[in-house]
Amino acid sequence: MTADDLPLHSRTPLAWARSVLRDPIALLIDHAFLEKKAATNAMDMLTRWPDEWVPGWVETMTSVARDEAAHLAQVTRLLIKRGARLDRTHKNQYANDLRQLVRKGTVGENIDRLFISALIEARSCERFEVLSQAATEDPELAAFYKALFSSELGHYKTFLRLAYKIGKRADLDARWHEMLARESAIIEAQEPGPRIHSGFRVITP
Ligand SMILES: [Fe+2]
Ligand SMILES: [Fe+2]
Repeated sequence: MTADDLPLHSRTPLAWARSVLRDPIALLIDHAFLEKKAATNAMDMLTRWPDEWVPGWVETMTSVARDEAAHLAQVTRLLIKRGARLDRTHKNQYANDLRQLVRKGTVGENIDRLFISALIEARSCERFEVLSQAATEDPELAAFYKALFSSELGHYKTFLRLAYKIGKRADLDARWHEMLARESAIIEAQEPGPRIHSGFRVITP
């Protein structure tokens, strides 16, 4: 499976990856925070099973959190090796904008949270693929992004499968397609810059 098989409504051009790779340290710092956020999101979701107990829910969330913590450790190692370090704070406008779509306090809240988790994983996969293709002058980064693609693809499938386990298929299909369209508009509206979820507009040097 490649990024072309993902149901995302837009594709990131190679030019975006070439542009953000001009500042690999900033990109890695942003990336580290995304992995941290992905781990805490899984920990947060751990106790958000729906009214009925869902077999495998807790195990799935612990497993995702463990993977994301391992990714965070890998990114941090790369940063330190390159003479840099983490910042203390971080902002991810893309994820914040996606979170606005959650129908809070409704039966759909859990579904929306799972769909958003799946969307972030899918977009990250797509970005890692294009980054691995563009990082021709940095084989270490190219290999790293390539390896992450399959792990995040697994998470995307996992979150989507869980959503379909807890809701009615017809309702879910409609909501999923609506959210895919919203995601595409949200990523395209992001500011450009050396971040994993930045907008497509390419900064010319
Ligand atoms: Fe990850
Ligand atoms: Fe992930």
